[in-house]
Amino acid sequence: MNIILLGAPGAGKGTQASKIEEKYKLLHISTGDIFRANIKGGTEIGKLAKSYIDAGKLVPDEVTCDIVKDRLTWNDAKSGYMLDGFPRNLFQAQELDKFAKIDLCLNIDVDESLLMDRICGRRVCACGESYHISTLNGATTCAKCGGELYQRADDNPETVKTRLDTYKSQTAPLIEYYKSQGKLKSVKSGAGSPDEVFVQICAILDR
Ligand code: AP5
Ligand code: MG
Repeated sequence: MNIILLGAPGAGKGTQASKIEEKYKLLHISTGDIFRANIKGGTEIGKLAKSYIDAGKLVPDEVTCDIVKDRLTWNDAKSGYMLDGFPRNLFQAQELDKFAKIDLCLNIDVDESLLMDRICGRRVCACGESYHISTLNGATTCAKCGGELYQRADDNPETVKTRLDTYKSQTAPLIEYYKSQGKLKSVKSGAGSPDEVFVQICAILDR
């Protein structure tokens, strides 16, 4: 099965992807993680992506689409995958339809008022795990791998505001795009915990 995880910045895409990967053994492909790995590695793609990510803007479509198109040809993607953070606008969605067959788009729907706190309180590990300071109890290392936790450079109020605007103008229209294809399923993530959201996702995936 090939699925897309759709949702605003801070909706919980990465958090749920980690749970889905563990339970359903579905490969997790995050364009944000790919860009951050490139930034860390000092590659040309990383240098280009950094200026856009730091500003809360989308990395150019051609670069992003080429990365995903190539990643989906790897052997580990043959038995299914979930895309986190891609597609992010109509152009990317239309391109994706040319090189992939998507079965389901899972939209994580969150009240906007919750997002700023979720993102600015987030601490991440290089292994991909995300935490929130409210549940860390002062811990500074990853419960999964022991790695040091840090704050993403784009997790500051000013950049988050631009990311939310970018989401509203460019990414939210994809909800209609996948609805019109009959592929959209939405889950509500309110004040509930990640586990409560995951229960809703499992009910959809088990069907
Ligand atoms: P990306 O890395 O994709 O970031 P994003 O979309 O802004 O989403 P986040 O990773 O911030 O949020 P999330 O939904 O994964 O939330 P999480 O699970 O961590 O992209 C970063 C940048 O890269 C973009 O701005 C862009 O520049 C570039 N980029 C990436 N893809 C691109 C593309 N396709 N095209 C062009 N450019 C691209 O959770 C957030 C926090 O909330 C955590 O602290 C978590 O613990 C907490 N939390 C999660 N769920 C719950 C819950 N149910 N209740 C309470 N707290 C919760
Ligand atoms: Mg994420």
